[in-house]
Amino acid sequence: MRIFSGIQPTGHMHIGNYLGAGLQYLNYQNQGDFFLMVADLHALTVSQDPKQFSHETLQKIIELLAIGVDPAKCTLFVQSHIQEHSALAWIFNTLTPVGELERMTQYKDKANKQKENINAGLLDYPVLMAADILLYKTDVVPVGQDQVQHLELTRTIAKKFNGTYGKTFPEPKTMLVKEGAKIMSLINPKKKMSKSDPSNSYLALSDEPEIIKKKIAGSVTDKGREIRYDPAKKPGISNLLMIYALCAGQNIKTIEKKFQSKGYALFKKALTTLLSENLDPFRKKYKELEQREVYIKEILSKGNARAQRVATSTMEEVRQKMGLFTL
Ligand code: AQP
Repeated sequence: MRIFSGIQPTGHMHIGNYLGAGLQYLNYQNQGDFFLMVADLHALTVSQDPKQFSHETLQKIIELLAIGVDPAKCTLFVQSHIQEHSALAWIFNTLTPVGELERMTQYKDKANKQKENINAGLLDYPVLMAADILLYKTDVVPVGQDQVQHLELTRTIAKKFNGTYGKTFPEPKTMLVKEGAKIMSLINPKKKMSKSDPSNSYLALSDEPEIIKKKIAGSVTDKGREIRYDPAKKPGISNLLMIYALCAGQNIKTIEKKFQSKGYALFKKALTTLLSENLDPFRKKYKELEQREVYIKEILSKGNARAQRVATSTMEEVRQKMGLFTL
């Protein structure tokens, strides 16, 4: 089974990335042939500071290793190192109606968020994502809820290509976790937690205990004192309960019962302690890996080489099926 997923380099990996996608990476690296990519080309759809950008890419690889991604089990690589992603995206552009891209929720949200920079890449993001996935003839894509619509388009593109040029790509399955596929922002629990939002809205895996304490204390709760899982009526406390349950490895009902009559302050205190303890090994591992740049670069050159072999082979097949002239 071929598995593929990606994460953008910018911003710190947060608890939403970890619970929605990261835990799946750790599971899938033991299930099959897993390709995991740092999506630096995708990140360019938002303005980036060239002085920081390359460091952030390295930092994201370190974060992935620090959560437990094992380079011996998984092909870890950087998107922009494999030129075929852009080449295949161009081909898929010619099969994708603009209208389909304009109705993508993430495009509409981002266009609204960055009115001064509604670039063509923002609209084309899902096509590049389809190319990322299909280039590796992926069967399974573990992601968070926010990527479901993009995955539907990926399957549409695969079908269209196969229908036009002959069976080439599998139609990849979207894999979501049962719980935690959409962890919400700490300050606006109606919106998903996102690393491009202000830092008090997300809980970074690298946050020190003092910061965790501040962020949890400042997180939005709901009217009343009752600790009850009810995402419609109590989105703030429900989000915190979900985080608690997943980090403690218990079900939400048990946590609800435990804090039933305790009030928000006590619950938040317990959540702070749980998170600080749970994230401690990540922080330590991250600090250790930060000192080992040569080792990280070795992992990446191996990963890039493997990704390149598969990408070259798929593109040769695509060129041949489409009748692109080859010498
Ligand atoms: N809140 C979330 N809950 C569960 N899963 C999530 N993912 C992202 N947010 C949540 C999943 O994490 C993987 C990496 O996604 P990303 O790099 O796009 O992370 P992000 O936090 O969404 O980053 P950005 O830069 O802030 O992007 P936008 O602005 O698009 O939100 C993916 O599998 C994602 O589904």
